[in-house]
Amino acid sequence: MIKRKFFIETYGCQMNFSDSEIVASILSKEGFATTTDISEADLIFINTCSIRDNAEQRVLRRLKMLQSLKKKNPGLIIGLLGCMAERLKEELLEKEQVLDLVAGPDVYRDLPKLIRQVGSGQKAINILLSQEETYADIAPVRYDSNGISAFISIMRGCENYCAYCVVPYVRGLERSRAAASIIREATFLFQHGYREITLLGQNVNSYCWVNPDKTITGFADLLNQVAQINPLLRIRFSTSHPKDLSNELLHTIALYKNICRSIHLPVQSGSSRILDKMNRGYSRDQYMDRINAIHKILPDCAISTDVIVGFCSETENDHNETLSLMKEIGFDSAFMFRYSERPDTLAANNYKDDVPFEDKERRLKEIIDLQQSLSYKSNEKDKGKKFEVLIEGYSKRSKEHFSGRNSQNKVVVFPKTNDKPGDYVSAVIQGFTSATLLGKAVS
Ligand code: 5AD
Ligand code: SF4
Repeated sequence: MIKRKFFIETYGCQMNFSDSEIVASILSKEGFATTTDISEADLIFINTCSIRDNAEQRVLRRLKMLQSLKKKNPGLIIGLLGCMAERLKEELLEKEQVLDLVAGPDVYRDLPKLIRQVGSGQKAINILLSQEETYADIAPVRYDSNGISAFISIMRGCENYCAYCVVPYVRGLERSRAAASIIREATFLFQHGYREITLLGQNVNSYCWVNPDKTITGFADLLNQVAQINPLLRIRFSTSHPKDLSNELLHTIALYKNICRSIHLPVQSGSSRILDKMNRGYSRDQYMDRINAIHKILPDCAISTDVIVGFCSETENDHNETLSLMKEIGFDSAFMFRYSERPDTLAANNYKDDVPFEDKERRLKEIIDLQQSLSYKSNEKDKGKKFEVLIEGYSKRSKEHFSGRNSQNKVVVFPKTNDKPGDYVSAVIQGFTSATLLGKAVS
């Protein structure tokens, strides 16, 4: 029998990429085969993000482009999954004629039924959020993997209600996945040649699983267990919330060489007044206290962050505090965004989006320029140092060079050796740009 083919395109965060692997697993059990050629697909899924307005606009433009495919192949099924499905609900089916199916992030087990419904001539929608679904028993199909690194989602949802953020509304309440199923998946990956896993959650520090014997596995306990699977399996995790980053966790990381020395700790703003308005649950001083704890307990740990400029009522003074905090800490890297008001969030309901667009643009440019120089300085400090690098493959620019990352999550490019992807090598850093370290393998 010829298998029906599906194509899945993913927007947004790592969690969404991880969800697409769950969807691929559910569809492959239904007899669908993945394809990377959209023109031969019988079923196209777009897994979407709602975090900023421009993420949604990109998807809406993409849907327009898919209209021509549908004209050529009227039997083609097009579905929209993920956060936008959850946020816009029926409105999507009404406004976007090209769509046959809309499914929120907690109903992927229902996809086969929804696809059958479309097959019988109806449009299909399910946007229920769940308090339990973690897809713990579904083995993801890693259809776009390098065979070396993989994501494992350990929890879903979020209950922090940062004022700017749509996530609690589109991803539902926080729930953790059974610890045993996480260990099983990580062990399986290691046995199949993977050497790096990233544990994913909106706020991994609040991971909490109640075992059948009523004992509790928290995030530090989970890391402890995952780290012991094999010293050759590297562990990363994302994202940490500054208000929940405990010293206990930092001490656990310090115990294991294979837990990577890299923490993503979104600060969002350097102004305590803005942080309070954002409902982040910490002040500038409290954030600095966590940075100092990282420096003390994990002296070689890289720190990256997220920053939003132009949040409601942000003044030049607040903005300068963000710049000064970035300089004081010297982040190794950062993701930086212009505030984008999201309907129905605490900020949209209570504050005015009152920073003029031109000010947001200029402030964004200022922090990007500053970060560029901080990243450059951070890499400059690595010159002459020796790092253990996990080889991921050839460098994008040349087949004569390997590319991998060090524990600090920095990309290291070096002339090819007799090793292969998945092997660890020691590399001495000889040069750098603001994005990459350039090195040489040494024995
Ligand atoms: N506008 C701009 N950036 C946002 N982020 C989350 N919500 C918004 C928003 N409404 C950013 C935060 C978060 C990252 C994933 O996206 O910095 O940490
Ligand atoms: Fe991920 Fe949030 Fe975007 Fe959803 S809205 S895809 S959870 S970043």
